[in-house]
Amino acid sequence: MDEAEKEKIRAILTAAAAAPSGSNSQPWRFVVRGRTIEFHYLPERDHPILNYEESGTLIALGAAIQNAELEARAQGYTPQITYRESGSCVAVMELEVGGRIDDASQSLREAILKRHSNRKAYKDIALSPESKSALVDSAISGDSALAFSLIEDREVMQVIARALTTMEETALGNKTLHEFFFSEILWSADENRAGKQGLYIKTLELPPPAQAMFRLLKHWGFARVLAKIGFPKMVAQTNAKQNASASAFGVITVGKTSRTAYLEVGKIMERIWLSATAHELSMQIVTGVTFLARSLQSSEITTLFNLQERERIAAAHAIIKKSVDDTREPILIFRIGTGNSPTEVSYRRPPEILFN
Ligand SMILES: Cc1cc2nc3c(=O)[nH]c(=O)nc-3n(C[C@H](O)[C@H](O)[C@H](O)COP(=O)(O)O)c2cc1C
Repeated sequence: MDEAEKEKIRAILTAAAAAPSGSNSQPWRFVVRGRTIEFHYLPERDHPILNYEESGTLIALGAAIQNAELEARAQGYTPQITYRESGSCVAVMELEVGGRIDDASQSLREAILKRHSNRKAYKDIALSPESKSALVDSAISGDSALAFSLIEDREVMQVIARALTTMEETALGNKTLHEFFFSEILWSADENRAGKQGLYIKTLELPPPAQAMFRLLKHWGFARVLAKIGFPKMVAQTNAKQNASASAFGVITVGKTSRTAYLEVGKIMERIWLSATAHELSMQIVTGVTFLARSLQSSEITTLFNLQERERIAAAHAIIKKSVDDTREPILIFRIGTGNSPTEVSYRRPPEILFN
């Protein structure tokens, strides 16, 4: 392969590696054989407590594949994707020379490097009809097992916003979840710039007093004392207001979970996020509780929680299910709205590429 073509493949994989992943875990590796790209997943990078059926890892891979597909078209290829049912390679992309990118895909492609999580409060305004139809159109999938719902009813949004904070409420009172949550925080700008896995503290958009408190809360002894006097519930109430400050919640549900269904969820999530970015809308995934609820189906994980915590998580999960479609499994939830730009963004390691 000549250098010019290698450059095109690097552009495709740089787009892939710009995809979102849980706590910026970047759980991927790419193997290039001629014009074939293999997408390998690294589930060990995501914590099992929030990665039931490796769903978080697979969703991130789906988003990476989506970006690669868009960039491949922009680089003049027609990509053909085949999913693999087992093994570390989850999908193979064959690049056929020739083809062009249509205008709608080009606007998504241009949003790949502009897309970021925005954890600020958003303005109290409704989605415009144009933005709404663009979001809904971007979520059309060839996989009929997937569905996307937009929830704009203020009352329903308040209830969901509170249910979502079950994640923080539990993380501030449960030793294992607390340890996991705080081990994922990056405290320095240098670590963030280096593309290290984790959530940079400034991307959490905490007001200054909460930032100082957060540094103390990382000590379990301190968090445990505060948990005894109801501090987690107070935090949950404050965060519920923040979660509800959006124009809509988006929910992606599946009829049945599978490796392919999770990859497809990731692809749709990324298309919606790119479409939101192209329409100058902000987005934040707020999905910890749906992941936690599914993880509790694992016998090893369920023992890490006491009865009260399990009931609280199950109740939140039921609220979310009921607000979309009780017969389907809600996999991913996000808030969408109009917000000021994020204070800081997360960086990536350069993509790991093996040219064979
Ligand atoms: C499966 C998955 C779950 C996520 N869950 C959350 C979440 O619950 N809350 C949140 O603020 N961000 C969540 N994120 C967003 C990531 O933290 C974020 O994409 C990553 O840190 C990289 O930052 P970026 O989106 O700005 O590129 C999730 C992302 C994925 C792919």
